[in-house]
Amino acid sequence: MSEIHPAPMEQKPQNSQAVVIFDTTLRDGEQSPGASMTFEEKLQVADLLDQMGVDIIEAGFPVTSEGDFEAVSAIAKRLKRASVAGLARAAAKDIDRCAEAVRPALRPRIHLFISTSPLHMKYKLQKEPDQVLEMITASVSRARNLVSDIEWSAEDGTRSEIDFLCRCVEAAIKAGATTINIPDTVGYAVPHEYRALFETVRQRVPDSDKAVFSVHCHNDLGLAVANTLAGIEGGARQVECTINGMGERAGNAAMEEVVMALQVRRDTMPYHTSIDATMLTRASKLVSAVSSFPVQYNKAIVGRNAFAHESGIHQDGMLKNAGTYEIMTPESVGVSKTSLVMGKHSGRHAFKEKLKELGYELGENALEDAFARFKDLADRKKIVYDEDLAALVDDEIANAYDRIKLVALTVIAGTKGPQSAALTLDIDGKQITHQATGNGPVDAIFNAIVALVPHKAVLELYQVHAVTQGTDAQAEVSVRLAEDGKSVTAKGADPDTLVASARAYIASLNKLMVKRGRTRPEVLTG
Ligand code: KIV
Ligand code: ZN
Repeated sequence: MSEIHPAPMEQKPQNSQAVVIFDTTLRDGEQSPGASMTFEEKLQVADLLDQMGVDIIEAGFPVTSEGDFEAVSAIAKRLKRASVAGLARAAAKDIDRCAEAVRPALRPRIHLFISTSPLHMKYKLQKEPDQVLEMITASVSRARNLVSDIEWSAEDGTRSEIDFLCRCVEAAIKAGATTINIPDTVGYAVPHEYRALFETVRQRVPDSDKAVFSVHCHNDLGLAVANTLAGIEGGARQVECTINGMGERAGNAAMEEVVMALQVRRDTMPYHTSIDATMLTRASKLVSAVSSFPVQYNKAIVGRNAFAHESGIHQDGMLKNAGTYEIMTPESVGVSKTSLVMGKHSGRHAFKEKLKELGYELGENALEDAFARFKDLADRKKIVYDEDLAALVDDEIANAYDRIKLVALTVIAGTKGPQSAALTLDIDGKQITHQATGNGPVDAIFNAIVALVPHKAVLELYQVHAVTQGTDAQAEVSVRLAEDGKSVTAKGADPDTLVASARAYIASLNKLMVKRGRTRPEVLTG
């Protein structure tokens, strides 16, 4: 590099072009193993995505379960501006169910997909290429008769033969598809290749200008965002992405990274999105809290270290001019400078302001509950750090709609066994108590929970981490439960590790109950 570039924060776009943001946190993101969300959590996420300017929200895969159908349908009914998409395979029952779910939306979309790579067609679909072509025409035509906005995706598109892929795209456009998505389903592509793929398909397919081309990248080689940007340069004008990069296996392209890359580097990529970037941090926190998927500390844009400067040289540079080590301001992604220090004398107003600073906006009831827990925490802990508040509020958000709640816990632990736990739970408004023993206090607590809420789920993960330093730090416990090959993860936070453990296990049970579509806690078994 021959010259030093100034921080490009204020650069104006030249011939800026719009890129449509299609968020699939609620569909591909929710497919992350262990990351399921409840119905109410999905509505919360959808509302926030709508507010922050997402153009299209993929709300689920309606045919897969009653729960998915209900969530897509409820989101379709409530959103004020975004289009609402549902996923469907090339099958009549998928398409009809999807149409029924999205139809109430202001702008409904059916998103159809079928595999086009030799490997997928042979082993997954067990179909010949000509049969796949026929299925594309039939499925797009059927969907188009029900809803006018149709997206068609070539699953495993990047490992498909280019001639066949072009024939498939041509058939989809001819049958009425208005968006053509070429996913890098297994995260195999590299940027120059992905860009060329779009250029070739757009050039070779007749009437390609009748459809918007779309990128959908998985992160198996850590290239999802790079490939997404390359796809845009190849002519794609829709980006499929998720908050925090959630998604199958290594995840999808992270929305916050794509949006900020386009914003910060407008000088070389003259594209813009309609996302209000100052809401990215809040969205990241909400999605992390409801999915119980932690955000890695050094995650670009939304990680807690993303704007932290540790070394003396960097700190010195920052004090002289923030542009020395920051290519964007924390405020531009919704992180505001910490100003309020919280303690036991802090009131409700300061608490609310502090949460706003941290990127949280709670409803009245959730705020009251969180405030009560904060007061309790401040009585027990000398310094209440921002991380403490975040753990507490995450816990509150994730468990706001729980039907099984922890009421009281007394544990006898120590060198003389057996350790025992007396536990009271509130299940749908009814309190029940049980005392159990175990091989250690955590085992005793979990045995008491199993006695009160019988179930066959297997404990796959039990993990404790301290939210801050010091022996009075809050413990954050993660519990993953698995049943019939499906798993859910949930967290619990409390200064007492044993209480946090109970909270986390109960939160997991609540999630499992929702995932299984069980209506009553006592029927978790069987
Ligand atoms: O990764 C993928 O191919 C998908 C399709 C269903 C769009 O998620
Ligand atoms: Zn995907």
